[in-house]
Amino acid sequence: MPVDEGLALYAAAHEAATAFRLPLVEVGTYCGRSTLLLADAARAAGTIAVTVDHHRGSEEQQPGWEYHDPEVVDPEVGRMDTLPTFRRTLHTAGLEDHVIAMVGRSPEVAAVWGPQVGLVFIDGGHTDEHATADYEGWTRHIAPGGLLVVHDVFPDPADGGQAPYRIYRRALESGAFTEVSATRSLRVLRRTAGPLDGDGSGT
Ligand SMILES: C[S@@+](CC[C@H](N)C(=O)[O-])C[C@H]1O[C@@H](n2cnc3c(N)ncnc32)[C@H](O)[C@@H]1O
Repeated sequence: MPVDEGLALYAAAHEAATAFRLPLVEVGTYCGRSTLLLADAARAAGTIAVTVDHHRGSEEQQPGWEYHDPEVVDPEVGRMDTLPTFRRTLHTAGLEDHVIAMVGRSPEVAAVWGPQVGLVFIDGGHTDEHATADYEGWTRHIAPGGLLVVHDVFPDPADGGQAPYRIYRRALESGAFTEVSATRSLRVLRRTAGPLDGDGSGT
């Protein structure tokens, strides 16, 4: 994530944490770089960051694909496992007390999640199946006035995959969200309308 996107994410997290003192949720922990931004904003406001990942990597991070890192393969299991690296990242930053790490698939975690949240940052799987499930699972938990942040939004298909762009468009077209900022591929939206229906598409 480029620095200006990170600053925009931090600004959104700081605003939401300060305004609501509700949990800030991230979908897609990986090794924890963006988690640090949510965690520091949560710490400053006296709330908590919650980050969700099965830690087995997305499609493009698997062996043979563009973003694969062999250093995060568990040699015993033979699959990716970014959890140890993530834990070291948090420990080194001194932010362990400000993060709850949920290890599991995003839709399953969203289905059992209870409280409203101040912000949801979607940066998980980038297929339509995964991005749609993240959108439908998590947006309904955002408090009115809270923020939805989507990463890797590329209006031009030549710049990248379209699944995050499609959920960003869906949020706007639902009438339940308005755009706050756009920084490269990072979009910040505010939940402005009333209750969302069960799949986050607005009422
Ligand atoms: C692009 S990386 C996240 C990068 C991280 N936000 C950062 O900026 O450092 C995507 C992550 O989403 C996770 N992921 C993909 N699909 C998922 C799903 N359905 N449930 C949970 N985690 C998932 C992958 O394991 C991977 O670690």
